[in-house]
Amino acid sequence: MSLTEHPFLDGSPKGLFIDGKSVPARSGRTFEALNPATGALLATIAEGDAADIDRAVIAARNALDGPWGRMTPADRQMILLRLADILEARTESLALLDTLDMGAAIKRRRGNVGLLVSLLRYFAGMARAIHGETPHTSIPGMFAATVKEPVGVCGAIIPWNGPLWATGLKAGPVLATGCTLVLKPAEDASLSPLLFGEMCMEAGVPPGVINIVPGYGATAGAALAGHHGVDKLAFTGSDVTGRKIVQAASGNLKRVSLELGGKSPHIIFADADLAAAAPAAAVAAFANSGQICSAGTRLFVERAIHDDFVAEVARIAGTLRLGEGRYDETDLGPVVSARQLDRVTGYIDSGCSAGAKIVAGGTRLSGEAFDKGFFMPPTIFTDVADDMAIAREEIFGPVLSVFAFDSIDEVICRANATPFGLGAGVWTQDVSKAHRMGRELKAGSVWVNCYNTLDPAVPSGGYKGSGWGREYGPNHLEEHLNVKSLWINAA
Ligand code: NAI
Ligand code: MG
Repeated sequence: MSLTEHPFLDGSPKGLFIDGKSVPARSGRTFEALNPATGALLATIAEGDAADIDRAVIAARNALDGPWGRMTPADRQMILLRLADILEARTESLALLDTLDMGAAIKRRRGNVGLLVSLLRYFAGMARAIHGETPHTSIPGMFAATVKEPVGVCGAIIPWNGPLWATGLKAGPVLATGCTLVLKPAEDASLSPLLFGEMCMEAGVPPGVINIVPGYGATAGAALAGHHGVDKLAFTGSDVTGRKIVQAASGNLKRVSLELGGKSPHIIFADADLAAAAPAAAVAAFANSGQICSAGTRLFVERAIHDDFVAEVARIAGTLRLGEGRYDETDLGPVVSARQLDRVTGYIDSGCSAGAKIVAGGTRLSGEAFDKGFFMPPTIFTDVADDMAIAREEIFGPVLSVFAFDSIDEVICRANATPFGLGAGVWTQDVSKAHRMGRELKAGSVWVNCYNTLDPAVPSGGYKGSGWGREYGPNHLEEHLNVKSLWINAA
């Protein structure tokens, strides 16, 4: 694939985006952005490390004291609306850039740009809805009010499974509240975050408000998490790295929010609308080649319908077309990297040796169209015991474990027996079952007769080991605000 296939990929090295400018790393080092479908080199990118993070944090701190700090909510709203318009006008180009960089099907990437545009417009509205309260005190003559202030310099560390989307999700509330941002994208997908930085400038965001510093986790990421000039850090990624982030953040006790994925149960009762539930179960597990934090990777099926339902999900999985994501007909692209492919095949091997049975997929695709990329077909395991690694750990590939269950009490107990709690799905036509499951499943989002539905106004986040804090909705804004209590003695 030539480097000219996308206007952003013009053969020039991509710099870090700091203080409104593209700059080389202080060390002069670079790393390569590769297309996981073909192995082709897309661009070389400046490799930021601690020195560059430091520069970016200083730029972000200074920006708080510059014109940005004096802007009104109406100004910030207009900037967010312009940014949304700019993204919307370039949907196709942005979708293609992510597809080339991390592999996912372009139709999915287009949908993500659309959702991000909607999210930015939501935060544009929220910029003007920030308000404190005037609690009535019981102290004679004492007036009290709460004032919301931007928390300050925000750091964000994001993964590769939705690079533009994750960048916009971190930037939206930052812009709405008047904070500033230093974002470290994933080393496997830094291109659209860099382009997002440039588009912010076009939208009228002052220099230094949004800074994008690509680099590796152990260097740039760790420096950002530990930086004493950062007031708040938002991390999305693995639970293992999440723990390191919390430790690094303890130095200055910065505020931390975490979105750490999961092992989400997807539960199908025999009374469900099975014609709707089967394709939903396949999409929940295999969309984005399974690289979704809230993927429905533990499928619990009531025993009476287990065999037929599994056969139908396997049939649907078999109709999904794998290939280079940039073609419209592609349903599933490759996984993001050789490392991720190894991780996924390692889990598949572990499932086989533990005695689970493969009923679909299981081996990497080969042949001319696939050999240079990391293509793994939808893989379905039955006969999975609850204590197998494939039943407990987040795989982040197109791998589904299926379990039969007999009663509602049993399935609630097994579904909740996980350290994670990001999402859960339930299919039933019985309204009392739906309510009971909605209450008793320990997860930040419970979807009944749907799965993975997202709306900018509805909070999303984890119970238990799936994280801290909420994204989307008013809660997401609050994460970026400090509450000041103002007392005035008017006696
Ligand atoms: P990761 O959690 O290590 O990487 C996510 C981000 O954290 C990247 O930007 C990375 O550079 C950064 N990072 C890594 N080590 C860091 C450190 N010590 N300090 C600060 N930042 C650091 O995930 P990775 O290695 O890409 O994928 C491994 C597994 O993690 C996947 O197979 C999947 O199970 C899980 N994962 C879950 C995600 C989710 O949204 N739930 C997203 C990405 C990965
Ligand atoms: Mg890449």
